[in-house]
Amino acid sequence: MSFSDFKLASELPAWKSLEQLHTKNSKFNVSEAFEKDPQRFEKYSKTFTNYDGSKILFDFSKNLVDDEILAQLIQLAKEAKVEKLRDEMFAGSKINSTEGRAVYHAALRNRSMKNMSVDGKNTAPEVDSVLQHMKEFSNQIRDGSWTGYTGKAISDVVNIGIGGSDLGPVMVTEALKAYSKPGLNVHYVSNIDGTHIAEILKPLNPETTLFLVASKTFTTAETTTNANTAKNWFLEKAKDTAHIAKHFAALSTNAEEVSKFGIDTKNMFGFESWVGGRYSVWSAIGLSVAIYIGFDNFESFLKGAEAVDAHFQETRLEDNIPALGGLLSVWYNNFLGAQTHLVAPFDQYLHRFPAYLQQLSMESNGKSVTRGNVFTNYQTGTVLFGEPATNAQHSFFQLVHQGTKLIPADFIMAAQSHNPIENNLHQRMLASNFFAQSEALMVGKSESEVKAEGTTGDLVPHKQFSGNRPTTSILAQKITPAALGALIVYYEHLTFIEGAIWNINSFDQWGVELGKVLAKKIGKELDNKDPVTTHDPSTKGLINQFKKWSL
Ligand code: F6P
Repeated sequence: MSFSDFKLASELPAWKSLEQLHTKNSKFNVSEAFEKDPQRFEKYSKTFTNYDGSKILFDFSKNLVDDEILAQLIQLAKEAKVEKLRDEMFAGSKINSTEGRAVYHAALRNRSMKNMSVDGKNTAPEVDSVLQHMKEFSNQIRDGSWTGYTGKAISDVVNIGIGGSDLGPVMVTEALKAYSKPGLNVHYVSNIDGTHIAEILKPLNPETTLFLVASKTFTTAETTTNANTAKNWFLEKAKDTAHIAKHFAALSTNAEEVSKFGIDTKNMFGFESWVGGRYSVWSAIGLSVAIYIGFDNFESFLKGAEAVDAHFQETRLEDNIPALGGLLSVWYNNFLGAQTHLVAPFDQYLHRFPAYLQQLSMESNGKSVTRGNVFTNYQTGTVLFGEPATNAQHSFFQLVHQGTKLIPADFIMAAQSHNPIENNLHQRMLASNFFAQSEALMVGKSESEVKAEGTTGDLVPHKQFSGNRPTTSILAQKITPAALGALIVYYEHLTFIEGAIWNINSFDQWGVELGKVLAKKIGKELDNKDPVTTHDPSTKGLINQFKKWSL
């Protein structure tokens, strides 16, 4: 299939029908939809069963859709040939057209060892062999048999990476803290700001510290600079470069650059170019996670992910959970004018989940050129944001409840807490908020209700809530490695569906290049005190002021 075969989404017949449906349903009210259809919750909720039998309930019923709208959204997916693109992705085809690459992160969680080939070569044996290496290595770190240059066990692992080589591992490490081993700490350094690495290294002992340099390309400036700083810090005490082998490992696709840096390729955990950075937590990039939670738990994380892959591949669109999530997002973004999407985990362990999803969603779908190489004439990627609740309720939820913008929201919670302290009181209070927020956003509070409570005069409109604000509630049984794997892949495939409908390539990231190139050029200009004469007047003024104050 040629990529130029794909039409602009706005030219598809279902797109036009959806525009008409939106006009026809401009007064759609979800509370009234519940009154009309007593089965709405049952009909619009889907339960995902994981490989270990655990379940996650996705309640889509509080969204601003009815059967007719949903049917047209599914029709849109069919006309946009999303199933074909999905099947091509799982077949290892090079659907990342601008980089000429397959999009095959699903092959990293192929624990059932199916034949998953790229260019006629089955990826399963190689993926498994890297996983076995990760297993052996993580076991050695955890049981203390891998020792540093003075014979001491490793107490601190520092992952140095940025973007996908950081956000996934950090998020999963935080989310699965309950599975960690006491006495073994994992830290993450990403920012080029020297403060990040300086503060992480301050309390650490080079004799017991292991660095994982995580970079798909091994050319990312932030990561190579931080890794060199770490090497200098280590050698200041260890002196002999021969000791590096015990304290540095590389997670990368680029063996040549890894060797140049001075890391023995025996200590390199590889993956292939068909793994995009933001989809790489399942690869060797997840080594810090495997060390932190143990390999069995890491494997369970992969299996939970694999189970959603199977669901996504095998389930018809009407019941396909990530597909429904993606279609709802398109509905809000392109027909109801939403600009943003809120993800609020009611779970402190998931506090980095929104940050992780920001890269997944916005680096994937923040594009304005189609796979047919023309500019879109419609909106694409939403601005995704979020913070854990209940904290978020005391911060920006005011705007979500009473602001002028439509903000579709996902609320995520687990029924069972890892910390059921105070006889589970905290958990019950957390859950009461989880239920209350989506209910309040939907039902709102009318003028007559405000008045019935005794409010009069000027205050009445201030206390009104319009309601009819859409949410998807995601209720897991517990945040286990398998459940987390499944939740991440729900969002991966939701993002895939959005991009497939918008007819953009969700798998490249050309938009990050220009800034990188300019920073490199300006970096050289900061090597001396001479004022710069080029650049636009604002940038020139800023650089020259910086030079006066800093150099
Ligand atoms: O600058 C964006 C990006 O390319 C991301 O896509 C990627 O996750 C990140 O940089 C890090 O890249 P690498 O793993 O090659 O260092």
